[in-house]
Formats: sequence, structure tokens, C-alpha cells
Amino acid sequence: MKIPSVNTRHLLKVTDFSSEEIINLFSLAQSLKKAQKKGKKHHLLKGKVLGMIFEKSSTRTRVSFETGIYHLGGTGLFLGKNDLQIGRGEPISDTAAVLSRYLDGIMIRTFEHSKAEDFAKYGSIPVINGLTDDYHPCQALTDYFTMFEKLSKFKGTKLAYIGDGNNMAHSLMLCGAMLGVSVSIASPADYAPNKEITDEARSIAARNGSEIVITESIDEAAKNADVLYTDVWASMGQEDEAEKRAKSFDGYCISMDLIKRNAPEAYVMHCLPAHRGEEITAEVLDSDHSIIFDEAENRLHVQKAIMTVLMNSR
Ligand code: CP
Ligand code: NVA
Repeated sequence: MKIPSVNTRHLLKVTDFSSEEIINLFSLAQSLKKAQKKGKKHHLLKGKVLGMIFEKSSTRTRVSFETGIYHLGGTGLFLGKNDLQIGRGEPISDTAAVLSRYLDGIMIRTFEHSKAEDFAKYGSIPVINGLTDDYHPCQALTDYFTMFEKLSKFKGTKLAYIGDGNNMAHSLMLCGAMLGVSVSIASPADYAPNKEITDEARSIAARNGSEIVITESIDEAAKNADVLYTDVWASMGQEDEAEKRAKSFDGYCISMDLIKRNAPEAYVMHCLPAHRGEEITAEVLDSDHSIIFDEAENRLHVQKAIMTVLMNSR
């Protein structure tokens, strides 16, 4: 299997890769998926150890990374929020330096994005962002990989995101822009995506012939979309705001009516976990429009490719 080379040591944001590197990464993910389906051994990271730091809960990220490194011939070490001395005040700089002496890579899921950046700054091994308050690059890369499996193209396609301008919205905008996909985001005014990240996505999109639209109208966003995407109204760490958000986001929902009105052929995606009856109806989630479980499966294949390109030669 050909392992593409990349110019980055870390994956903190999708823009750490170039557009060409993302396409090459997808080819590797596709080969890894085929190999696994055929039961062919693919020990591209034999003997390597990935530390997985989780300061927030996870089902998909934890299980897909741990299974993935095992498929690649290595081992994953789960480090929950109470397992490390960081929780008792040991600085990230020391933790990162020490872990770099044992491990071959770190995956981190945390709150402030700056914490993931600090791991990269003070450690000497690859750091993979498994979700921060601002970004979720592994999920967005997987989503576009899944979209390509279904549509066989990026240029000229449109993804509409309905809901909170959060970590998912940010990573989907950036990655879409890099691949020439137009991305429309519909959020209530107070929950629009971050302005700087939007501007960054717009300037990347302009170079790749696509556009980024921010609106409050779910119909405007969804019009003629190839993919309709949504995520929870209150992310991890925002539990206290859940009630207030439920009011603000009322109507920001992917329903059969929205699909019929605007994009009758669209695929529907959700990073999961989902709240049926809030951001998406149960009818849509369980319908033929939904490719949500393909998307969840592909986390495994795409992250195996990410670990391989970042950890193989170190
Ligand atoms: N989509 C996603 O990252 O799921 P988990 O929170 O279960 O890891
Ligand atoms: N926006 C969600 C994504 C979960 C995968 C969160 O941060 O909780």
C-alpha cells in the first residue's frame, strides 16, 4: 500500500493538510477499507503506540481510534480525564514532553483548542485533534470521504449545515472550501460560526471555485443541496445552556418537509450522537436519505489513514 507523504507533523485543523494531501489521504483510506473488508493484514504501524487523551466523552472517536491502531499492528492507550496528572495541575508542557518519550502519537479530545496546540508545541510526536471546542477535523475529513463515496465528485456540489455554528460547522466549512464544495450554514443569528474562521473558509473557497454562505434561513441553506448536515444544539461543555439553546434553535431541524421542499434527492449526515426530535427527526434519521451510519463507520478507515500518514516514519 502506498503511503502518501504529508508536510505536516500534526492534524489540529483540516488546513494542516493541503487539498492534494486530503485527496491522497482519501485514496489511502479507501485502500485500507478494502483491505479490512477482505480480511487482508495491513500492519502499517506495527509496534506503534497511540496515547488517546479524553477530557470529554466519546463513543465513535474512542472506539474507532483504538480499533484502528490495533488493525494497523499497534496499540492504543486510553487516558481518561482522571488518569493523568494534568487534572491535578501538572503543566501540559511537561506532560507533552514526557508522553513524547513513550508514545509514537497522541490523539487528544479536549475543550480549548489551545490545549491541543500546546501538546503539539511542547511534545515531539504527532498530535491528532479528536475534537476541541473549535474544530473536529477527523469527523469533517470522514464526512467528505463519505460524501465522495456517494457522489463521486466534489466540484459543483453543495453541503448545507443546519444548526449551531460550532466545531463541526467550522471544520465542515474549511474542509469543503479546500475541496471545492460549496457550504451553506443556517444558524440563529447569535449562533453563527466564528467570523475569522468563516473569512478563512471564504478565502480558501474563492481559490477553489466554491462559496460559503451564512444565513438564518434553513430553506435558503438547504435549497438544492446534495448533502444536508446537522449536529446537536448544545455541544459537550454547554450542558448548562441546553434549555436556552432549545428555544433559540427551535425549527433548526432536518425534517422530511425540509428535504421535500428543497432537496428531495439529498443525502443526510450527522456526526452523532443525535437527538431525534430536536436537530433531526427520527423519520429522517432512519430513512433512505440517511448515510449517517456509513459516515460513522468511515471514521475508522479515515483515521487509520490519518494515523498512517502522520505516524509511519517517526
Ligand atoms: N462524532 C463523534 O465524534 O462521536 P463521539 O463523540 O462518540 O466520539
Ligand atoms: N458539536 C458536538 C460534536 C460531537 C461529536 C460536540 O462538540 O459535542
